[in-house]
Amino acid sequence: MARTPSLSVFAAVSAFALLAACSGGAGNGAEETAEETAAPAGDAPAEIKQRQDNFEAIGDSFKAIREQLETDAPDFAVITPAAADINERLKRLPDLFPAGSSMEAGYDTEALAVIWEDPEGFAKAIENGIAASEDMMAAAATGDPEAVRGQVGNLGKNGCKACHDKYRVDDD
Ligand code: HEC
Repeated sequence: MARTPSLSVFAAVSAFALLAACSGGAGNGAEETAEETAAPAGDAPAEIKQRQDNFEAIGDSFKAIREQLETDAPDFAVITPAAADINERLKRLPDLFPAGSSMEAGYDTEALAVIWEDPEGFAKAIENGIAASEDMMAAAATGDPEAVRGQVGNLGKNGCKACHDKYRVDDD
């Protein structure tokens, strides 16, 4: 059986090896079964790459806003579209998490299985992110850098971080 090696497969395999070592390492063929569970057959769902690209773009837009705030004359021609971009991309999230596309299912993703175990909590985290991005858009519309600065904290904490803390692998 051909398998494309990926970081998450190695991680899953070594996690299993560790588990086997701890439990006495029976070596009765169970390893193969565990490996199959850890690395699903077939291609990864396209949504995994789509959501990672989408989050990367969200990260870029958020960074663009923060960088403007570090300048003497923050440019609202950068801030305003970046805020709208974050809002628009957060609204796409519900379509980008097909069932089972988690790290625990063996895919190369930082999305934790708890996303699908707690769908209401995850939906709420998306909603909170969207709401915070709307506040950011409203702040951008005032043209006041200090208003935007305040929303950077709000969006970062109640949007991005609140969701990452619960639903994304903690690798910081
Ligand atoms: C509702 C939950 C949620 C919200 C809100 C959220 N994120 Fe994420 N983010 C995730 C998850 C889950 C992943 C892991 C995706 C994957 O690996 O498949 C992620 C991944 C990322 C990544 C890594 C992308 C990559 O793979 O290279 C960045 C950067 C990121 N988020 C930035 C942000 C920023 C900035 C915000 C706020 C403006 C934000 N996120 C809001 C859940 C969220």
